[in-house]
Amino acid sequence: MMIGDWLDVGALADIPLRGARTIAVADGDDIGVFRTGDDRVFALVNRCPHKDGPLSQGIIHGHAVSCPLHNWKISLETGEALGEDKGCVPTFPAKVEAGRVLISRMAIVATARAA
Ligand code: FES
Repeated sequence: MMIGDWLDVGALADIPLRGARTIAVADGDDIGVFRTGDDRVFALVNRCPHKDGPLSQGIIHGHAVSCPLHNWKISLETGEALGEDKGCVPTFPAKVEAGRVLISRMAIVATARAA
């Protein structure tokens, strides 16, 4: 459901604490929506900048996620690899309102590939 420039992608309660869910984008990259231990939400392209690992299956700690493939740590706030590693995935505005998770409509536009 669209609310202005925001897309309602479900209830916060449906995402486990320190868990994630993915949103499929037609003809585009999946978006990972991450819930942190302090109940913030972050939306990132669900693809590790190293070798495309599914970040949504990684371990969330603080405001970062460890990639399930080779354990790179990616900042949920900036999408950048932390530490020695170099790389970045796109991030999108996300927020919680009245228990619903909203992500910027731009996320869908930005990830959809040209047909
Ligand atoms: S693909 Fe993520 S660390 Fe290698």
